[in-house]
Amino acid sequence: MTATKGLEGIVAAASSISSIVDGVLTYRGYNIDDLAQNASFEEVAYLLWFGKLPNDAELKQLQQDLSNEATIPDEVIQQMKSYPKDTNTMAALRSAVSALALYDGEADDMSREANERKAVRLQAKLPTVIAALARIREGKEPVAPLAGVSIAENFLYMLRGEKPDEVSVKALDQALVLHADHELNASTFAARVTVATLSDIYSGVTSAIGALKGPLHGGANEAVMKMLNEIGSIENVEPYIMNKLENRDKIMGFGHRVYKNGDPRAKHLQKMSRELGEMKGDTQLYDMSVKIDDLVTSQKGLRPNVDFYSASVYTQLGINHELFTPIFAISRVSGWTAHILEQYENNRIIRPRAEYVGQTDQKYVPVEQRA
Ligand SMILES: CC(C)(COP(=O)(O)OP(=O)(O)OC[C@H]1O[C@@H](n2cnc3c(N)ncnc32)[C@H](O)[C@@H]1OP(=O)(O)O)[C@@H](O)C(=O)NCCC(=O)NCCS
Repeated sequence: MTATKGLEGIVAAASSISSIVDGVLTYRGYNIDDLAQNASFEEVAYLLWFGKLPNDAELKQLQQDLSNEATIPDEVIQQMKSYPKDTNTMAALRSAVSALALYDGEADDMSREANERKAVRLQAKLPTVIAALARIREGKEPVAPLAGVSIAENFLYMLRGEKPDEVSVKALDQALVLHADHELNASTFAARVTVATLSDIYSGVTSAIGALKGPLHGGANEAVMKMLNEIGSIENVEPYIMNKLENRDKIMGFGHRVYKNGDPRAKHLQKMSRELGEMKGDTQLYDMSVKIDDLVTSQKGLRPNVDFYSASVYTQLGINHELFTPIFAISRVSGWTAHILEQYENNRIIRPRAEYVGQTDQKYVPVEQRA
């Protein structure tokens, strides 16, 4: 038995939700480019869960269900208020989502229908939880969700306490479409491993949030913004990046396990970043990002991934960097729950083997005789 570090190249599940073939990403057979241009996030979530794009009535029903489920129990809000103010937002989100299970009477109902309802419920509640966490951190009261608006609009409304402009809503909605699913990424795998023990959907999503938090996965978008802030000016890009490369430090937002010739999602976010900058009449963040991109590509042959241009997009939407990875979770919970439903449908516990590389033939020595 020989281990493959990082399970590179190992096919660990059969799935009909999303695929990456020759650098092309599809959700249920639809090219991500097509969906990013044309679909709303709610349509994409429906597609991931139910395998087809919704018709008009189905979409309206989903929007209604999401609205009905968007509030969160007072007990969870009180609990969130007791979290330390300086805690990591993903850590707080992990705790709050775990707490939501305690107030869901269906948490342990393993029927397909109940699990579908919980997928919608989790999708509806995550934006409310994250906006509340952000406001509580700023010493403000959480804002209750609006009925009858999209997830993107509702999230920005609950965050800012006022109706957001259309451009911001459209940009966030498109970013959510682009982040919704990504085959067997680390957090989705974590979710599938957890629920393959026949544990509940909240446990699966809590595991996934823990995995997404890491800077090698979803945490990279926040790390990109920290880097852009550290660099501070276009003149400083070259010395900063060259120094990092010479020290063999990782440049956050670059490289990918599967895409070696570029991440198909990055171009959409790059365009969005440019357009938002041009609209605001300040393209400094975008210009710095492009310069970093050119340098890392020419020096190291690494291409930007989904997280790189997300950082400047979210910042230009007025969103604090602590919320970047949680926003990734608002989108990816659609993919996580779709994969959880798929795992339950044809389950077998996920239990691989390890290559043992430790000592052998040890003999027990009583404690008083040990050095
Ligand atoms: C995404 C990532 C975790 C993929 O990891 P991986 O598949 O194990 O990639 P590898 O470590 O095999 O990369 C191959 C080489 O490129 C280097 N490399 C990969 N990403 C790099 C980066 N962002 N900056 C600098 N060097 C990088 C590796 O150090 C390695 O070099 P080596 O062969 O000299 O040791 C990795 O590219 C990374 O850490 N990127 C930065 C974090 C990030 O943006 N994550 C979000 C992913 S969507």
